[in-house]
Amino acid sequence: MPAISATAPGKVILFGEHAVVYGFPAIAAPVTQVRAKAIVLANPLGKIGQVEIDAPDIDLHSPLSELPNDHPFVVLFSNLMERLGVKVMPACSVRITSSIPVAAGLGSGAAVSVAMARALSSFLGHSLPNDQISDLAYQVEKKYHGTPSGIDNTVITYSKPVYYMRGQPFERLELLHSFTLLIADSGIKSQTRRVVEDVRQGWQSDREHYDKLFDLIGQISRQARGLIEKGRSQEIGSLMTTNHQVLKELGVSCPELDRLVKAAISAGASGAKLSGAGRGGNMIALVQPEDADAISETLRKTGATRIITTRVGPD
Ligand code: PMV
Repeated sequence: MPAISATAPGKVILFGEHAVVYGFPAIAAPVTQVRAKAIVLANPLGKIGQVEIDAPDIDLHSPLSELPNDHPFVVLFSNLMERLGVKVMPACSVRITSSIPVAAGLGSGAAVSVAMARALSSFLGHSLPNDQISDLAYQVEKKYHGTPSGIDNTVITYSKPVYYMRGQPFERLELLHSFTLLIADSGIKSQTRRVVEDVRQGWQSDREHYDKLFDLIGQISRQARGLIEKGRSQEIGSLMTTNHQVLKELGVSCPELDRLVKAAISAGASGAKLSGAGRGGNMIALVQPEDADAISETLRKTGATRIITTRVGPD
């Protein structure tokens, strides 16, 4: 039997992170320059039920049966098998690789889940539609991140810019023009779960203040949607910078991210903000294509450890 493979892209949140957990809208876009990949290979000589996992990027080489029950791969397998009514896996090996930086706000966990769910369901002879693939990845995120909004699994599964509100069908953004983003890594690893928990604690101790900030972010996302669809990049940029200020007030930025945001704007970006959970990970800057190289250089000098240039736009 030939190997079956599937891939899924990374993502950035353009507007609305954190507030999206509390039901406010957010906007995210896929980052196709980085991808997770899963390859499933039947093992005709193996014992039924024997599944070997090989994930060199995280130095994991283990039979599935030896991973803890709450390991994301185990959660994914059990959800998938239950959904497909598969009692026991045919003997196989699953190789997982990814060029998406881990713990950096680019959705690496959700992308691995999506790629695995696609490859495994097709290996089992029941290729699942996107809504089910997205839901499987969401179930894993729930185990791993606590209270995910669902935006990561959605944008990564559909690989299109989305306008997303928790608990509602997502909407695809129809873009008139494309725009260029620099995604700059602060080099600081950040655990989404911890940052989201801290925000929740803050919210519990001062609801009025946090609700105001979430509401402000929600208004920014709504306004950004119209501007993105019309391609008004200068105004999108300033809204990004405003969104960053509110995230800073929410306590999820850090000096390194603030420095990168400031440097990008001083070097000519239309605007910039942290992207994802914050306290590390990546920032994004909206730039004119002709300025991308010079602004990247400035960001590198300011401490960015890796820069991805991506284009968000119509197909
Ligand atoms: O850090 P990331 O890429 O997993 O993004 C998290 C985005 C949050 O809004 C902070 C959490 C969520 O579940 O939406």
